[in-house]
Amino acid sequence: MIDGKKVLFSGMQSTGSLTLGNYLGALKNWVTLSDEYECFYSVVDMHSITIRQEPSELRKRARNLLTLYIAAGLDPKKNCIYYQSHVSGHAELAWILNCFTYIGELNRMTQFKDKAAKHADNINAGLYTYPVLMAADILLYQADVVPVGKDQLQHLEITRDIAQRFNAIYGEVFTIPEPYMGKAGANIRSLQNPDKKMSKSDENANASIYLMDDPDTIIRKFKRAVTDSEASVRYREEQPGIKNLIEIYCACTGKTPEETEKEFDGRGYSEFKPAVGEAVVSVLKPVQDRFYELSKDKAYIDGIIKENAEKANYYATKTLRKVQKKIGFPERIR
Ligand code: TRP
Repeated sequence: MIDGKKVLFSGMQSTGSLTLGNYLGALKNWVTLSDEYECFYSVVDMHSITIRQEPSELRKRARNLLTLYIAAGLDPKKNCIYYQSHVSGHAELAWILNCFTYIGELNRMTQFKDKAAKHADNINAGLYTYPVLMAADILLYQADVVPVGKDQLQHLEITRDIAQRFNAIYGEVFTIPEPYMGKAGANIRSLQNPDKKMSKSDENANASIYLMDDPDTIIRKFKRAVTDSEASVRYREEQPGIKNLIEIYCACTGKTPEETEKEFDGRGYSEFKPAVGEAVVSVLKPVQDRFYELSKDKAYIDGIIKENAEKANYYATKTLRKVQKKIGFPERIR
């Protein structure tokens, strides 16, 4: 609890460009949650280096992501928006938690197996202990809730296990976090293959709508979206491509699938697809405009980075000192 509010922690990696899926499934919900919770939204650049990064590119993307958080509507005075690498407590707590995590647990992590297979030339120890750093992120702020996608649930589970194990030995040190699964828009699929999630790292550029795609590109990608030969706008499992487009349309317009079916009854895909594109443009365009506006104001963004790093450090240090004391590290002499 901070000022009577429950604490929320989440983060995104500053690798690749965010997609419409990231926006509708995460960022947009973060904005809604920021009224109810005391929120920490981190740009988790320390996680990013588990895969080799080009330094100038990583720096640029991290800043763009932080700016995008604000452009999407997160008030940086209310929400702690900061770089993970600016708070050394993440690394310090991660080390301690490493000593409370079993190799057997890490061996079960499906994301590690996937990433190791994908980057067989660089299976580093950081990739392996990635979930422990994530546990440190969450536990450092005593988070009550963590909005995550399905793919991160296993990491939240191990976070809870580590926290419970630690608490069982040392007393109630950590808050045990609960996952928060968003509802609407959480499940945006690829436009080229609706069996797959829309992904930042899809090789086919037509498969994903990127947050910063210009309106023409967005409309074009929707016109090319893979559908079926049924030619009717119906919300059913048998039409996964159309189902996905309806979900996107609904997430952007606030309409229900039934209303959408009615609206496009008797009209073909050639009318529906561009309409979905327009709906997406009307949601993304204001975010893009704000992003470009904010990007010009270097001093403002720098100020936020500094202020919020201080705020994050304050809470992180509080937890870290408590943990260090519990495990028997010598007290600091002031
Ligand atoms: N691993 C998460 C992802 O790739 C990002 C992340 C890092 C995160 N630390 C976190 C998410 C803590 C929630 C809470 O999506």
